[in-house]
Order: sequence, then C-alpha cells, then structure tokens
Amino acid sequence: MTKVADRETTAQRLLTGSVRRSYDPDIDIDWDAPLVEGKYFAPPATLTLYATPLWDRLTEEQRIELSRQQTVNAVSVGIWFENILNQLLLRMTYEQDPTKRHVHYALTELADECRHMTMFGRLIEALGERPYKQGFVLHNLGRVLPLVLRGPSVWVAALIGEEIFDSIQRATMHDERLQPLVRQVMSIHVIEEARHIRYAREDTVRRLERSPWWVRELSRLVVGAGALLLQTVLARPEMYKRAGLDVREARKAARTNAHARQFRAEGFERLRSFLAEQGLIGGPTRVFWHLAHVHPDGTEVRLLGPST
Ligand SMILES: [Fe+2]
Ligand SMILES: [Fe+2]
Repeated sequence: MTKVADRETTAQRLLTGSVRRSYDPDIDIDWDAPLVEGKYFAPPATLTLYATPLWDRLTEEQRIELSRQQTVNAVSVGIWFENILNQLLLRMTYEQDPTKRHVHYALTELADECRHMTMFGRLIEALGERPYKQGFVLHNLGRVLPLVLRGPSVWVAALIGEEIFDSIQRATMHDERLQPLVRQVMSIHVIEEARHIRYAREDTVRRLERSPWWVRELSRLVVGAGALLLQTVLARPEMYKRAGLDVREARKAARTNAHARQFRAEGFERLRSFLAEQGLIGGPTRVFWHLAHVHPDGTEVRLLGPST
C-alpha cells in the first residue's frame, strides 16, 4: 500500500527538495547550441509507427522527422495540460490557509509549471516548429475543467498527465542517440515532476479516505476518461501530415500497432497499479481503460488487431 505521511510533513520535505534541486531553463539550458544532424528527437521505440510495415518503408530522414513532430506534439499537449493544472492549483490555494506548508508547496508547483510551459515553448521554437493547437472540444474543456474539478479529481487528473509523460521522458533523457537539447529539457522536467507526482499521490490517498462514494465514482470517471483522452491526443493525426506521410495509412498503422500498445501499457502500469490500489479503476469506467488499450487489471495488453 502507498505510505502517506502527514500533509504538512510531506509538503515540508517537498519544499526542501525544491530548494535543493530546481532549475531555471532560461539559464540552465543552452538554447543557442545548434541541433545535432542525424539525431532523433524521441526514442524510436516510443514512436507510434515503430515496428510497423510502414516504419520499415520510411527513410531515416522521415523517421527522424516523425520523432520531431511527436516531440513537438507531446510538449504542446504538456503546455495545455499544465495550464489547466495551474488554474486548478491557484483556485485551490485561494480557499486555503496561506500559512500552511501544503499551500506553499502548491504555489511552488505552480511556479515549476510556469517555468515548464516556458521551457516547452522555447523547445518548440528551437526545433523550428509551430505548436500543435488543441481542437475545439479540448480547448474548451480546458476552460471548463478548472471551474468544475474539485477534491481528489484534481489530483487524479494531475497524475494522469504527469505520470504518462514521465515514462516517455525517462526513456528520452537516458537515450544518447537523441538530440542533447531534448534530453536536457526532459531531465529537468522528470526531476521536478517527481515531486509533483508524490504530492498528488499522497493527497489522493488522504482525500479519498474521507470522501463519500460519489466522489470516488467521479474520480474513477475523471481518471478513466483522462487516460483515454491522453492516449488519443498523443497520437494526433496532424503529426503524420506535418511529417509528410499519408495520414490515412499512418493512422491505420498506428491504430493496429501492437508494439505501441505494449509500450503505452507499460508506461501506464505504475500509475494503473496505484489507481487500482485506491479503488479508482472499476465499474463502468473500465470501458475507458479498454478503449485506451490498457487492461484495467494490468494482466496483459488487449490486442485488437495484428501489428503487421
Ligand atoms: Fe511540468
Ligand atoms: Fe507537474
């Protein structure tokens, strides 16, 4: 079971960690260093088309371009997500005692996310790209969610975004075949997000302990829908268009890619087992997990089609 300390104790530890190890991307990243010719922007095994017959036909340049587009999409989604999270954090602190360490850490996380959004924006610029815009539904969802999400739902929504990116980013920061600039950005993000994840996980446990059944049901719905939504936006068809590929063919290849499903399921596993332990995967919301190709019990990935 997840061990949870007293709220103020956890917050004090996270504040101490933030003082010891935080970064200012404006200073700590060499934005003027040129990109390295021939290096990938994301590990090939994390790309949605990897290990498909279409992948085999792509030239090295096309594969690298796809990795560039997938990275730009991922950080564009990251900015969208962190902007919503910051609105939620600010609204939460408005209601609480400003002398509490718990509130101080919420404000510290908010400041971290401000730097992350700037860092991601600069990365998109440094890669010579335009950000991916969220569609009508997602854009407006981002306007509504900060007004309606409360309690444990805030934290499970935060965890869905933070932990899924975390698995991709850890693979990126350790891979020496990749662009040094992207690796630098990802390692800063992983270090600071580890604190956010702990904060969100522990407060999820604390809040669920004193929540009525309907709050738990709402959290299940938020987390299941969030998992599906994130899977969908990370495989956005516009990436293939910008990479100069046949969008229909690429979407079909990605949709039936058993390797990509396995990779995503593995990336979800740490979060999935935590959520299952907290009773947040179950009932009708299991259908969201199936649609996201993550088995709700974590036993195996449900394959809907052949990979080749
Ligand atoms: Fe962040
Ligand atoms: Fe975060």
